[in-house]
Amino acid sequence: MYDDNPTISHLNTPLEESKQGQVFFKEELVEDDSKKKFYIESYGCAMNFSDSEIVASILSEVGYGPTKFIEKSDLILVNTCSIRDKAEQRVRKRLRVFDKIKKQRPGMLVGVLGCMAERLKTKFLEEEKLVDMVVGPDAYRDLPKLIANAEEGEKGVNVFLSREETYAEISPLRLNSNGITALISIMRGCDNMCSFCVVPYTRGRERSRNLFSIIAEATDLVAKGYKEVTLLGQNVDSYKWENPESKEVTSFANLLEAVALVSPELRIRFSTSHPKDITDEVLHTIAKYENICNYIHLPIQSGNSRVLKLMNRTYDQAWYKERVESIYRIIPDCAISSDMIAGFCTETEEEHQETVDMVYWAKYSMSYMFYYSERPGTLASRKYEDDIPYDVKKRRLQEIVDAQQEVALQHNIKDIGKTFKILIEGTSKKSEDDFKGRNSQNKVTIFPKKEGVKPGDYVMVKVREVTSATLKGDMVL
Ligand code: SAH
Ligand code: SF4
Ligand code: F3S
Repeated sequence: MYDDNPTISHLNTPLEESKQGQVFFKEELVEDDSKKKFYIESYGCAMNFSDSEIVASILSEVGYGPTKFIEKSDLILVNTCSIRDKAEQRVRKRLRVFDKIKKQRPGMLVGVLGCMAERLKTKFLEEEKLVDMVVGPDAYRDLPKLIANAEEGEKGVNVFLSREETYAEISPLRLNSNGITALISIMRGCDNMCSFCVVPYTRGRERSRNLFSIIAEATDLVAKGYKEVTLLGQNVDSYKWENPESKEVTSFANLLEAVALVSPELRIRFSTSHPKDITDEVLHTIAKYENICNYIHLPIQSGNSRVLKLMNRTYDQAWYKERVESIYRIIPDCAISSDMIAGFCTETEEEHQETVDMVYWAKYSMSYMFYYSERPGTLASRKYEDDIPYDVKKRRLQEIVDAQQEVALQHNIKDIGKTFKILIEGTSKKSEDDFKGRNSQNKVTIFPKKEGVKPGDYVMVKVREVTSATLKGDMVL
């Protein structure tokens, strides 16, 4: 699965490979044939999937309804990711497919949204003749105007990056949802300058969303029957919002607490945590509230301090280990997951081994693993040579993947015989007779259905057997 440097990235909310590019609809989003139709595909991280719901909301205001049938649409939108080269190649392939469809449907418009739009700007219009609109992540409010212009034959680009835009008051149209779990964007952009990363260039400066609009969104979701929210940001621990009237400052720990208090029935997840910023106050808040999940996605990127310095991660191995120890001390049953990059510029075999060692030391419940993909314009592309041969990168990646699989299996084996509170998300993909849900530690748990129990319910499940990826068990009273 990782052979091909998967394009999944994520802000934890694991958007599995299988979900990339797919279009999801809640059953009640009935297609209204009297409306003009848009079809939207999303790639990349949870942030992009969340943005697509904002885009859907903006479009519904101007009379466009969603469709999951591409051949029925008047407007195709593709929300793109630039994180690795593979992610961009994938979108270009999709554009070839759209090109064929457009030839059969004159008048149909194609818009490119998201990070690739931001990175390539007007170049997109030059390179991809079929594209009518190029719209960056902070310019979605301009979509109605750009669409109106495109309908008149005028191609449009808006890639303006804002210091303020958070789409705070826009109520997302939940496309990508099962009616039980939802994404809430709490901030945008990123002010860290990790040398390998394109995000600061495609998403702009970091800004935090108004606390009250976040609480209102969570409250509304509870009223609609949702049971879990994931608070999203590139670095949630640096969330900071100042009330313009009282001047009171809300930290991430304060925000977590405020969302936890919305309803004890609502589970709270969040992602991504940055090792340099996660505080003990946040850890104590997680420990204090039963409905804040005991799961932290804490990407290390590399286990070696010299490489971390080149990556400009601003922590070293010792700092990271101290944070992990604090997590296990303050929240003993917390699961920790990670992101790792194999074969960053100048990485030696010994340094790579320190990443492998870290998988065992930190006991990650799971990880997203990639090999380094140089991104144009980043600090690393300007300062360092991408000097690790492809086959060496792939071999190192495989070694990390193997270690992680072994550690994940051990992690899960420890759960055999334990009973967990599971939020049921739906029917298992593999068997109609089983439910699928997650425990607080974000582990997928499969168990036989029972009369009177339905998705959205919390149930207690005793674990009987495990694989490296799932727990299997039975409901207990
Ligand atoms: N804000 C998050 C990461 C978002 S990008 C954080 O700081 O942890 C998701 C993941 O993609 C990163 O954690 C990193 O592991 C990976 N990634 C980012 N740029 C990459 C690149 N140029 N090559 C390979 N992997 C990369
Ligand atoms: Fe990229 Fe670093 Fe920001 Fe994460 S924290 S989005 S890796 S620059
Ligand atoms: Fe996300 Fe990809 Fe952009 S990971 S922020 S969609 S570059």
